[in-house]
Amino acid sequence: MIEELLPPGVTSSEAFDDAAPAPLFPAEAALMQGRRAHRRRQFATARACARRCLADLGRPAAALLPGPGGAPQWPAGVVGSITHCQGYRAAVAAPASLMAAVGIDAEPAGPLPRGVLALITSEAERTHLAHLASADPSTPWDRLLFSAKEAAYKAWYPATGIWLGFRDATLTLFPDGGFAATLHPPLPPPVDPVYQGRWLAGPDLILTAVTREGRPPPPRATAAALISSATPA
Ligand SMILES: CC(C)(COP(=O)(O)OP(=O)(O)OC[C@H]1O[C@@H](n2cnc3c(N)ncnc32)[C@H](O)[C@@H]1OP(=O)(O)O)[C@@H](O)C(=O)NCCC(=O)NCCS
Repeated sequence: MIEELLPPGVTSSEAFDDAAPAPLFPAEAALMQGRRAHRRRQFATARACARRCLADLGRPAAALLPGPGGAPQWPAGVVGSITHCQGYRAAVAAPASLMAAVGIDAEPAGPLPRGVLALITSEAERTHLAHLASADPSTPWDRLLFSAKEAAYKAWYPATGIWLGFRDATLTLFPDGGFAATLHPPLPPPVDPVYQGRWLAGPDLILTAVTREGRPPPPRATAAALISSATPA
């Protein structure tokens, strides 16, 4: 399913159960020690997906450990993203020579739990969602917006190291399967803060993907670098 949202050059792998987990590298196994069985299975299946992506790119299998902020640390020269939710695990990856950023997210289909929408949207976004729902009541637009914000964050964070909350992003969803996410970081953004994405709403799952062509920014374009450059000597 997820491949429908991706441009050429971005490889993907998905699983709908945990029947074929990856054997873990020692560092991954150590990370999962003491974690609940559900989390270990989810982690291992997502690693199987990620390693299939690496193989598709002609890369050897590698451990995918969380870096700062929880972002998976892909091998040098690769950008990628991971998601898991009830009944779904997926990874996507691309050569860093081709893609500057990718981010994916999966959510169960169906509306958000009561009370969540007000926490993650502006009034303008809620008006936007109401217009979309009046034209197409069968699509869970609120869940889609939530997922699209998470996909944009997963593309943004590895390039910047800057945490953003749900109210720090403004989403525009297009009925044709596209969306635009404008992020509002507190500092001048080190990368273009407007992301384009694609969405898919099936009977059970909502999938979103953000991709940006080009090369990732140099490592110095991080939150730490920005904060130190903004601090007077
Ligand atoms: C990080 C976050 C986006 C993960 O989303 P989620 O729906 O909870 O979980 P998913 O299963 O879809 O994704 C989990 C995977 O995301 C990846 N991930 C975690 N933190 C990440 C980060 N900072 N950047 C990129 N990817 C990240 C990891 O690969 C993780 O899987 P793993 O732990 O097995 O490696 C979410 O928990 C979060 O913190 N959101 C707040 C920030 C945000 O979304 N802002 C929106 C406006 S920009």
